[in-house]
Amino acid sequence: MTVTDKIAVGALTRAEAEAELPGLIAAIEAANSAYHTLDAPEISDAEYDALKRRLTEIELRFPDLARADSPTRQVGAPVSEGFGKVAHEVRMLSLENGFSDEDVLDFDARVKSYLGIAEGEVLAYTAEPKIDGLSLSLRYEGGRLVQAATRGDGEVGENVTENARTITDIPQLLQGAPAVLEVRGEVYMSHADFATLNARQAERGEKLFANPRNAAAGSLRQLDARITAARPLRFFAYAWGALSEPLALTQIDAITRLKTLGFQTNPLTELCSGPQDMLAHYRGIEAQRATLGYDIDGVVYKVNDLGLQRRLGFRSTTPRWAIAHKFPAELAWTRLEKIEIQVGRTGALSPVARLSPVTVGGVVVSNATLHNEDYIAGRDSKGQEIRGGKDIREGDWVQVYRAGDVIPKVADVDLSRRSADAVPYVFPQQCPECGSDAIREEGDAVRRCTGGLICPAQAVEKLKHFVSRAAFDIEGLGAKQVEAFYDDGWIREPGDIFHLQRDYGSNSLRQLRKREGWGDKSADKLFAAIDERRRIPLARLIFALGIRHVGETSAALLANHYGSWAEFEAAMTRAQIGEGAEWDELMSIDGVGATLATSVVSSFHQEAERALIDRLITELTIEDAVRHDTSGSPIAGQTVVFTGTLERMTRAEAKARAEQMGAKVAGSVSAKTDLLVAGPGAGSKAKKAAELGIKVIDEDEWLALAGAS
Ligand code: IVH
Repeated sequence: MTVTDKIAVGALTRAEAEAELPGLIAAIEAANSAYHTLDAPEISDAEYDALKRRLTEIELRFPDLARADSPTRQVGAPVSEGFGKVAHEVRMLSLENGFSDEDVLDFDARVKSYLGIAEGEVLAYTAEPKIDGLSLSLRYEGGRLVQAATRGDGEVGENVTENARTITDIPQLLQGAPAVLEVRGEVYMSHADFATLNARQAERGEKLFANPRNAAAGSLRQLDARITAARPLRFFAYAWGALSEPLALTQIDAITRLKTLGFQTNPLTELCSGPQDMLAHYRGIEAQRATLGYDIDGVVYKVNDLGLQRRLGFRSTTPRWAIAHKFPAELAWTRLEKIEIQVGRTGALSPVARLSPVTVGGVVVSNATLHNEDYIAGRDSKGQEIRGGKDIREGDWVQVYRAGDVIPKVADVDLSRRSADAVPYVFPQQCPECGSDAIREEGDAVRRCTGGLICPAQAVEKLKHFVSRAAFDIEGLGAKQVEAFYDDGWIREPGDIFHLQRDYGSNSLRQLRKREGWGDKSADKLFAAIDERRRIPLARLIFALGIRHVGETSAALLANHYGSWAEFEAAMTRAQIGEGAEWDELMSIDGVGATLATSVVSSFHQEAERALIDRLITELTIEDAVRHDTSGSPIAGQTVVFTGTLERMTRAEAKARAEQMGAKVAGSVSAKTDLLVAGPGAGSKAKKAAELGIKVIDEDEWLALAGAS
């Protein structure tokens, strides 16, 4: 009998479930062994997955029937297929964070300066709570909910449509909606529902959730929508993605429109005229925080005029027209048991405080970062006292804080509780992992291991970074596996991952299969997952290389600027630190400074590191950077220079617009320049352009061009 012929798990009695389990487990084990020893599977993958899924469901429904040696409990055992992937038509972005009143004033000033609005003028913003849940994008076509997707990496999320359909706050049908409408918002769980859920989990001996957000995330990402249905999830709508027609002309009206369509919108959303008003509303929301009944972690401000939002546009991962004003971090006192040193992928020796576990803002914290040796000694990077010069010692009572998702930090020390025999912490001068000297270069706050690639800690951390979610994100190859594979000598550097299967042939396959917790299917799945990643977008690859100072944002900047690996690699190979055309071009990228540029160029010139990059590249097919909006752009691929005064667009806006249209913006005119936009007062640049025979246009012509795509 196949699974589909059986009674639905929800309808099974306990006795029926008990009777069914041995047969079900035997069938799964037989399938495993047929696959393993005979290399000849007797049932299809789909049937196998269906069996596993049924077993999981039965065990969820009757937890006490689950056997300790159940096939569902094997680590790394193949689970059912997981969620399908969904590419977001419009990227799902995150928000810039602000922490102080000043940050909010500064945000307002930057917005105005970008738009060329006078400082004294008042700009309207919406202010609303920042809900502490997880974001979800709901796609409606012809008013019907057709797809729900998680944020994922912002470009590609997980398809959780069936689960989203079980959430009462999410309408299935809309009246009078645009033909295509993507509504975005936050899935969350109320405090009361969270408490009830955890009580139920405890009663059944199941895992407790640390906080409502984890509970919401865990509940939404259930492979079985029936489990999601049983969880009390809610949804607030606050934004949108793809649209076939505009919702309104202002943010506040768009939110009202979403409410009229049947969505829950946050009742504390208000229109504010300028920063003082925004800060007043912030205080008002903060005062109500404890009694709202759900978690919020700040207030989000958005430029109200959607026309201005459009002009402001986006940086690589955040909009210029919004900011999250976070609430102050939560604090707690605890004992620092021990200071340990971790070695990172760039060799940085990072001190970590091991703490007596303490609850900070609903989460149990047992580790906190201590930043670097100066921080422990009570100094900042410029040698100025911090914490009144108090140093941090093992055994001290320390104040720990956490803000949002960031790693907890140590804020203060209670000297009155310091024991008489406590001694100042001595920071190691040698790498605790490889014994190489650890040195501090001038101007560097951090002491670094000089072992380079011979340092196993650096190699492993580089590999972990390489497979991490924003990098290669290889399914089944996480930090734990990387460590194990490194210890076994199977992978030493990123390129090795791609010949795991080839180098070791069937032998490795057998070895891998024998590994504890590895089923037959997991090894094959891993190789398939690795192969899938041989095609990789340029930005991800650049980020994955783990070059110091190159984060996700700067990797995206580099990828968008150079467009292809060939261009990027050639430019970095030719570039010299501090001089020449390639250096100037690199430095001309908005967001690239000398530190980052030096670090990237050095990586391409450092022999061992370069060889490692080359070995990796031969394994890959690298996708060119996707330039948004450039189809039909008259200046795609061109190099544009702006000079003189622009009167109807600020320089920053003009530059961002040109880049959005697929052009490169340079600071000076050279033979490579294709177009010079010259406002009044253009001097030597216009002259040079004329000499070189470069096309020169004025602001009106530029506006006509910029409006053209
Ligand atoms: S607006 C393009 N509004 O915060 C901007 N986000 O830290 C889209 N969030 O990923 C986001 N409450 O998951 C917006 N009222 C709110 C929000 C909110 C919570 C989340 C959202 C976003 C994250 C960024």
